Amino acid sequence: MKTGPDEHEPDEHEPDEDDLTNTSLMERTSPMEITGKTALVTGANRGFGRHLAAQLRDRGATVYAAARNPAAVDLAGVTPIALDVTDPASVAAAAAATRDVAILINNAGSGTGASLLTGDLADIRLEMDTHFHGTLAVTRAFAPQLAEHEQSAILNVLSVLSWVSLPNISAYCAAKAAEWSLTNALRAELAPQGTRVASLHVGYMDTDLARHVTEPKSDPADIARIALDGIEAGEAEIVADEISKQVLAALSAGVRGLYPQVA
Ligand SMILES: NC(=O)c1ccc[n+]([C@@H]2O[C@H](COP(=O)([O-])OP(=O)(O)OC[C@H]3O[C@@H](n4cnc5c(N)ncnc54)[C@H](OP(=O)(O)O)[C@@H]3O)[C@@H](O)[C@H]2O)c1
Repeated sequence: MKTGPDEHEPDEHEPDEDDLTNTSLMERTSPMEITGKTALVTGANRGFGRHLAAQLRDRGATVYAAARNPAAVDLAGVTPIALDVTDPASVAAAAAATRDVAILINNAGSGTGASLLTGDLADIRLEMDTHFHGTLAVTRAFAPQLAEHEQSAILNVLSVLSWVSLPNISAYCAAKAAEWSLTNALRAELAPQGTRVASLHVGYMDTDLARHVTEPKSDPADIARIALDGIEAGEAEIVADEISKQVLAALSAGVRGLYPQVA
């Protein structure tokens, strides 16, 4: 008696080889021009977001530079707009005040330095509110605008710390890991409307967030260039530095590979 699909008959829910080939081709090679597009960057008043906004402008995009305090945006040739990603009213107002956004960069981020075990619970919540709930809220608010375009893109600024946790800043790592899972969910949920979702993974960059770090830091201008090149190339996962490449490669080794000291 036959109890399940014949192993020689293709299952209708299982993608065949052609589908897989087409999907991976789409993921790797469908380019997207930044010139002429409208982009919005959260947390664009300083740090990495400021570099992203400046370079988007220089590549010919119309740029909304979103910030909690729009008066703090000091870039010429961009449109400052108020946006606190943790405030639903502010998110809704920003979405209502903008039009034509085809590239959304979820960059705003907090760095409380809290440990999950000993840190202040308010700091731990702030990390999740900013990186996870904030990114989710902004994405939901702007998804209809993105859908109006034949091609649109979201870049979520993640971290190598989405993949590996450091005990002294574990609340940040947990929030970045949650944002990574969110990103993966959004890739699938937004694909039908033609919005591709990319993640950026990077180690330390030389910004205020990492001001106490004494280890080597990347120049955020270089990483912004890699990120925007990745959007233009249609990459789904932009792994911007050596440490992120090493940790990505170690993921398949599981806990033993990532945390040899406790395995
Ligand atoms: N620096 C690193 O080593 C590093 C490494 C990997 C990933 N990242 C990620 O890169 C992104 C940018 O960080 P950064 O290094 O540029 O840090 P940063 O220099 O501290 O800048 C953080 C930015 O996020 C904004 N922000 C914070 N909370 C916000 C909120 N609730 N609503 C709107 N904007 C908010 C800040 O605005 P205010 O000026 O109003 O505070 C500021 O513009 C973050 O997602 C971070 O996790 C950083």
